[in-house]
Amino acid sequence: MEPVRVGLLGLGTVGQGTATVLLRNAEEITRRAGRDIYVDFVATRDAAKAKALGLTAARLTDNAWDVVDDPAVDMVVELFGGDTLAKELLVKAIANGKHVVTANKALIALHGNEIFAAAEAKGVMVAFEAGVAGGIPVIKALREGLSANRIEWLAGIINGTGNFILTEMLQKSRDFADVLAEAQALGYAEADPTFDVEGIDAAHKLTILSSIAYGTPLQFKQTYTEGISRITAEDVAYAGELGYNIKHLGLARRTAKGIEQRVHPTLIPQRCLIANVHGVMNAVQVQGDAVGPTLYYGPGAGAEPTASAVIADIVDVVRAMTADPNNRVPHLAFQPSKLTNTQVLPIEEVETAFYLRMKVADRPGVLADITRILGERDISIEAFLQKEPAKDESDVDIIMLTQRVREGNMNEAIGQIEQLAAVAGEVTRIRVEALA
Ligand code: HSE
Repeated sequence: MEPVRVGLLGLGTVGQGTATVLLRNAEEITRRAGRDIYVDFVATRDAAKAKALGLTAARLTDNAWDVVDDPAVDMVVELFGGDTLAKELLVKAIANGKHVVTANKALIALHGNEIFAAAEAKGVMVAFEAGVAGGIPVIKALREGLSANRIEWLAGIINGTGNFILTEMLQKSRDFADVLAEAQALGYAEADPTFDVEGIDAAHKLTILSSIAYGTPLQFKQTYTEGISRITAEDVAYAGELGYNIKHLGLARRTAKGIEQRVHPTLIPQRCLIANVHGVMNAVQVQGDAVGPTLYYGPGAGAEPTASAVIADIVDVVRAMTADPNNRVPHLAFQPSKLTNTQVLPIEEVETAFYLRMKVADRPGVLADITRILGERDISIEAFLQKEPAKDESDVDIIMLTQRVREGNMNEAIGQIEQLAAVAGEVTRIRVEALA
């Protein structure tokens, strides 16, 4: 059979990894795909880099439009990132009848509904495994391996940079900024690192996982997003004393009232496997009604791990090229006509347990005032820690774990607690999940 000609957009970290692995494992990949796959055309400003990678036979251009408009290219592999130029290029590639593979989670989370509709109209495939959890084939697992199940919930550590930072803070008491710089140097971080530390990258990924789990259109704007930039070394240590690790978690859960779709720092009991996923590693736990709990673990970022997912998608697309488009795996797991607009719950309606830390004056009656405010909203305390005041200080840290409560009630209680004269500054609150 004729070889499949790939047009590669970008030779950054993932582009280089993809070229390297495609060349190194060409023979094995061909044995799996049933056809030779070769990089025919590359959009890059760095011709020397392409040659150094061994792409000696590929045509090179610094104009990506040349690649998407080239009639010889069967499949466009988009590794530029961003959601403006990348989107225009993909839409054009699809209009030109080309299949598309991308690692671009922002693009899929923000514009996937439109891109999939265009691809379905044209009978081409858009594959995006590398966009979620790097090298872990979690989209494949959810979309195919778990297709018998009603998914009850899923929870994932889906940003390698954030997990790397939290792990270094936990294990080596390192400074936040110093660890972030290292993650950037290692090629884990997004071009704009606030995407990692403010949770936006994880929210892109969670939005995709949630749609695939529940058969809903992509709803990025409805994903509640909170990053790790306000997590302090004190909170990491106090959580540890209470038997928890702090992880940045993306969580989607089906409830009677709607879908919870949220990304935020979370205390997880140390006995849970996922609480022990450290460094750049990612993990996604999926609870299906038939299978029960399943856990997918692996590297969430980096050149070759992400290339592993990109190339698996290339092979999948090659295998399905000759299949009737109606018999391909749907982009969001469910048939496009069967997607449902189930409501994503506002965060105020979500129920979780909470970790609260506050600095209070060390005098009689303060704790009584705080527990009265909590009690009035039916908020029950599960565990409590009080620290001795530091030398020459009259304020003490108190830390509480509450039982599950509607977030709106907790917001009201925190607002009132912060008004108390004995409470200094803001109350720190972090959600707690038992993942049981
Ligand atoms: N910046 C992302 C992360 C890269 O750290 O997980 C992989 O999506």
